[in-house]
Amino acid sequence: MNSVAFYLLLLLLISVATPPSTTATTIGVTYSTPPSISPSSAALSPDRIAAQVVSMKIPAVRLLDSNPSMIRAFAYTNVSVFLSVPNPLVPLLASNRSLAMRWCYRHVLPFYPRTRITIISVGNDVVSYSPDVSPFLLRAMQNVHLSLADLRIYKISVSTTFSFFNVVPTAFPPSSAQFQEPTGEVIIRPILQFLERTNSSFLINLFPYNMYRSSFSIPIGFALFEEGPFNFRDDLTTGVRYRNLFDMMVDAVISSMAVMGHENLPVIVAETGWPSSGIDAGEVDATLLYSEMFLKALLAHLRSGGGTPLRKEGVAEVYVFELVEKEAKQGVRNWGLLHHNMTSKYSFEFSDGGKGRRFVEVLVGFFVEVVMLCLLM
Ligand SMILES: *[C@@H]1O[C@H](CO)[C@@H](O)[C@H](O)[C@H]1NC(C)=O
Ligand SMILES: *[C@@H]1O[C@H](CO)[C@@H](O)[C@H](O)[C@H]1NC(C)=O
Ligand SMILES: *[C@@H]1O[C@H](CO)[C@@H](O)[C@H](O)[C@H]1NC(C)=O
Ligand SMILES: *[C@@H]1O[C@H](CO)[C@@H](O)[C@H](O)[C@H]1NC(C)=O
Repeated sequence: MNSVAFYLLLLLLISVATPPSTTATTIGVTYSTPPSISPSSAALSPDRIAAQVVSMKIPAVRLLDSNPSMIRAFAYTNVSVFLSVPNPLVPLLASNRSLAMRWCYRHVLPFYPRTRITIISVGNDVVSYSPDVSPFLLRAMQNVHLSLADLRIYKISVSTTFSFFNVVPTAFPPSSAQFQEPTGEVIIRPILQFLERTNSSFLINLFPYNMYRSSFSIPIGFALFEEGPFNFRDDLTTGVRYRNLFDMMVDAVISSMAVMGHENLPVIVAETGWPSSGIDAGEVDATLLYSEMFLKALLAHLRSGGGTPLRKEGVAEVYVFELVEKEAKQGVRNWGLLHHNMTSKYSFEFSDGGKGRRFVEVLVGFFVEVVMLCLLM
């Protein structure tokens, strides 16, 4: 057994032996402003969107385009706001520090802290957007981080968002996952060091839907968190049984970070979801029913506070893609929780009803710990 596998095993034992944490993951949604040309977009004013988020009791929102009037609309709402720097700006912010300062002057300073901005992602899936831009990523992140410090803002973390499919080539078994090379060594390793040093988080877009579609051997129930005779995968190195694809993908990310010595960084799933309609008739699993099943099961799973086998506290935050449908068109995937006219596609509860873990589960965790201690002595 190599040392990484041994380390993961240790991580696993610790996470099994410790009583489960009671803090559940923060669950938010993503939002992007529709193109202004569409006449019906007028109805989607920033204030209307912010009011909708508040009325649905959604605690966090990721703004995919950091439109200043949108940021302002979340003032005094106590909704935590995740901002994104658009990809084309990344090389400019990397080479020109005063431009990074200008970005913060325009998007952060006028609104913070009345709008509870918590994190800024410098670029979104820059690796696949343009390989030429990737080398600028860290420098742009540093410049935004330094600009915030110059403004005496220390509580907003700076990171960047990767896409699971472009950086983790093999998800199974999770314990042997590694970042895609050479991106891993050249781009990701120095970024992980930056994240560790600045107390930031690793951001990843992670879609079980895409992984399910790309592999014939994954049963739909495994992707939709359903209990069933075939709905599991065993990781033979760690001896862990995975009961859903989401946890398996998250642990593949954690193993990949562990290979680089950064297994303790918080992980934020910056986008996930299941489309209710597909690009063409071939996408038979992009249905309203599956989309509803995925969302409800994901919410229940995250609220249970059980975490993943390799990370007992689970991911820190998850953003469901996306709040409002782009205008219904043929030939595009529809991901919205709400129709374009802001009515719900199906009913669901975003707010946390039952808090954290049940007492029984905590007791079981404690019992396991006692048994382990006895075995060690
Ligand atoms: C604001 O949200 C945070 C985190 O979600 C929570 O801990 C805090 O109690 C909230 N504050 C108010 C005034 O509601
Ligand atoms: C950097 O950005 C500032 C502010 O936008 C601009 O005035 C300046 O000309 C830029 N410098 C370079 C070298 O592009
Ligand atoms: C990181 O967080 C720790 C613990 O919360 C704190 O002691 C430390 O000062 C923080 N470091 C930075 C650079 O913010
Ligand atoms: C909203 O849009 C959906 C889908 O286009 C439609 O089925 C529904 O009837 C609309 N509701 C209202 C109140 O307009």
